[in-house]
Amino acid sequence: MQLDGRVAIVTGGGDGIGAGVARRFAAEGATVLVADVNEETGGAVADEIGGRFLRTDVGDKSQVLEMVATAVREWGGVDILVNNAWAPGELGRVENKTDDMLARGLGIGFYGPLWAMQAAFPHMKERGWGRIVNMCSLNGVNAHMGTLEYNAAKEALRTLTRTAAREWAPTGIVVNAICPGAKSAAFRRRMRENPELEKASGAMNPMGRMGDPEQDIAPAALFLASEGARYVTGNTLYVDGGSHINGVAWTPDLP
Ligand SMILES: NC(=O)c1ccc[n+]([C@@H]2O[C@H](COP(=O)([O-])OP(=O)(O)OC[C@H]3O[C@@H](n4cnc5c(N)ncnc54)[C@H](O)[C@@H]3O)[C@@H](O)[C@H]2O)c1
Repeated sequence: MQLDGRVAIVTGGGDGIGAGVARRFAAEGATVLVADVNEETGGAVADEIGGRFLRTDVGDKSQVLEMVATAVREWGGVDILVNNAWAPGELGRVENKTDDMLARGLGIGFYGPLWAMQAAFPHMKERGWGRIVNMCSLNGVNAHMGTLEYNAAKEALRTLTRTAAREWAPTGIVVNAICPGAKSAAFRRRMRENPELEKASGAMNPMGRMGDPEQDIAPAALFLASEGARYVTGNTLYVDGGSHINGVAWTPDLP
């Protein structure tokens, strides 16, 4: 059991990759706080793995602070933080993006993870041990079209990952990013709207398929959350069947 006795928070743990990570962490002995805006799915995952659910909107600072405070109150600290929550916005060109769209994207994708990291930091530092895993995206790395707020938030999160990795390196806290590629709830929704996407994403992937949240993505998160990652910090790990090698130039039809 690689995470025996560890306390983990997984944001967006009610579905997709977050649910896969929460299940895997629990199977490895962690006590998991599933923090999600969706009470139904989040509650179901928490019940299934014997964890705890807390309704949390990661775009709301007071709720993020309460999320960390809950783990500290219930279990005495936080060892592992997985910043994974995201909700896609509307596709659109740069010139049509509004301040509200940008604020929403940066709120969920950048500020939420930052607030969680700031709140968890003193508790991890006190124990001299911490693991932070931030879910980022090839979308941002390659600047895919139509998703400016997503790309900007995820690249800001990657630079936060590296900055915190440097500043916190002496404390026993390691901070890493994963750029995943998986058939999650979000991906299935997109496929329903865009049926050719499944074929196209398979064809663009060197392994010929999108990953499975629990079988393909969660093991990488588990490694970064484990004792074995103690000398690994500031990295971006592409867990995507090799998609990043060719860049996956997704070019949607935009108005
Ligand atoms: N699936 C992929 O191929 C892929 C690719 C690149 C990056 N990612 C990243 O991986 C992470 C997980 O993606 P996924 O595909 O599993 O998504 P998903 O839509 O399947 O799951 C996201 C979860 O986050 C929750 N959520 C949404 N908004 C929230 C909020 N404001 N506060 C708290 N919870 C919220 C949802 O309810 C859901 O349970 C995201 O950060 C995403 O950007 C995924």
